[in-house]
Amino acid sequence: GPAKPKGARGLRFTPVAPNKEDAVVVPDGYRQNVVVRWGEPILRGAPAFDPERQSAKAQAGQFGYNNDFLALLPLPGERDRQLLVANHEYTDEVLMFRGYDPANPTREQVEIAWAAHGLSVVAVEEDRRTGKLTVVNRHHLNRRVTATTEFRLTGPAAGSDLLKTSADRTGRKVLGTLNNCSGGTTPWGTTLHGEENFNQYFANSSRATDKRYGIGTGATERKWERFDKRFDVSQEPNEVHRFGYVVELDPYDPDSTPRKHTLLGRFKHEAATVRLTRDGRPVVYTGDDERFDYFYKFVGSKRMKKGGGRAAREHNLSLLDEGTLYVAKLTGDSPAIEIDGTGKLPADGEFDGSGVWIPLVTADAHGAVSHVEGMTAEEVCVFTRLAGDKVGATKMDRPEDIEPNPHTGKVYVALTNNSNRGVGSNAPADEANPRNANKHGHILELTERWNQADATKFAWSLFLVAGDPKDPATYFAGFPKEAVSPISCPDNVAFDDHGNLWISTDGNALGTHDGLFGVATAGERRGELKQFLTVPNGAETCGPVVQDRRVLVAVQHPGEIDGASVENPASTWPDGPGKITRPAVVAVWRADGRDIGV
Ligand code: FEO
Ligand code: CA
Ligand code: CA
Ligand code: CA
Repeated sequence: GPAKPKGARGLRFTPVAPNKEDAVVVPDGYRQNVVVRWGEPILRGAPAFDPERQSAKAQAGQFGYNNDFLALLPLPGERDRQLLVANHEYTDEVLMFRGYDPANPTREQVEIAWAAHGLSVVAVEEDRRTGKLTVVNRHHLNRRVTATTEFRLTGPAAGSDLLKTSADRTGRKVLGTLNNCSGGTTPWGTTLHGEENFNQYFANSSRATDKRYGIGTGATERKWERFDKRFDVSQEPNEVHRFGYVVELDPYDPDSTPRKHTLLGRFKHEAATVRLTRDGRPVVYTGDDERFDYFYKFVGSKRMKKGGGRAAREHNLSLLDEGTLYVAKLTGDSPAIEIDGTGKLPADGEFDGSGVWIPLVTADAHGAVSHVEGMTAEEVCVFTRLAGDKVGATKMDRPEDIEPNPHTGKVYVALTNNSNRGVGSNAPADEANPRNANKHGHILELTERWNQADATKFAWSLFLVAGDPKDPATYFAGFPKEAVSPISCPDNVAFDDHGNLWISTDGNALGTHDGLFGVATAGERRGELKQFLTVPNGAETCGPVVQDRRVLVAVQHPGEIDGASVENPASTWPDGPGKITRPAVVAVWRADGRDIGV
């Protein structure tokens, strides 16, 4: 047979070459199937998808639009089955509705969009003979959470005047979740979901605090404010304060009320990933995806209870409501220079330095205290960006996913890009964000002091500077660059059981399609980066889950290219010509049934 591909264990596959195929392209010897598509019925009573006869009622029982984060959880006692949890970040009306008029959306279209946002929980089953993973329709745990599902606000800001509205005088109950980008899976069996670009749903603001969050002064693109005044800041000023949080869902209890944890701060949460301290308390990393914004860490003060009993589950659902939220400040240990491809290095030969976690707010069972001068604890939780500004946190190149490596404890921070770095009056390159007009992004590697999850100090260094490896300003942890794949705009990250980092991309600025990559983080092949798959026209690669025998990706917004519409599609994935393009989840496995990349 053909020579076995070399590489670190877990990454022994023939890399997929950069391409512009309107398809999901996987390595030789691998197979794929579409697990679930936008509109597929998952709840009892939901009709089959019919793009020409959509309704809000149908969509509320069907898989949502624009899948991003994915979790694949165990279903004990159910042979060959797992529980898939997916985020539905946003809607693309021109690609969803034939004849869509952006100036005059109909109420039905708006309500379909509300129902297409949110989360899906759906059982999936493996066919042992073919390897395919398919939906278990009407499973008792299947669930949809949408832009109108009831949520409970928890933490220091819950019940505060800042969160009270005419529909909710308690400030503790909010309808819906919006723009859930990436997320995380907790060791206590729940999922976390980051509310990211929530600003785009709110109209007619004139407040400085809203401006810091990018909330506009005029109408929104989707015009939801015409159909529900809570999206009009001039009429319902506090509704916007109820979005931009980390959401927690118990996918094993379909009747549970999901929560929004105000102690984890309010900003454009990309994701939220969890590890435990040595004594069993939760630590959550979360980034604010905006040019020149910050990344954060929450350290809990309560220990996780083991076991799946009701009391333990209830206790664990309160773990993120007591503890301290910190923001990161990074300092280079050499005078800052730009990585410019001339081989010039900082004085100590490395782009590296130290960092501190600056406390912003602490909460316990009795109340909360602010560590930020001039701001109350409630204000820190609701206007967290302003708190970060006040304490001098480090302005980063769009912090996307941040995730600790379960094998080593090192923490990886994906910084997707920042074309404004060093442009005009914007902050110039520094040792942690070393490239001006940063088109391709980079990844930092953090080491918490003594490798303790709750440390307040850390060291950091550059792990990867993305781009075409022929570009001398790129860097792959020192691995020979002729042996790596080109990569641009790292976004979501995940780890496999070998400790390799898997990176999905969004916005490839090299002219080819986005994709999924694996890179070794330790050993002599550290920095060897290989492309595992590419996604169709206009799509972003999301939600990677890497199990021993299967990789799952969410193909988000296929066909999203300027000027495209239902009538004039830019992609015909996944169902071919004449069919509407549909965001979908794809599973990839080895034809011979063996583990991925061994
Ligand atoms: Fe939704 Fe920052 O990506
Ligand atoms: Ca240095
Ligand atoms: Ca993302
Ligand atoms: Ca992104």
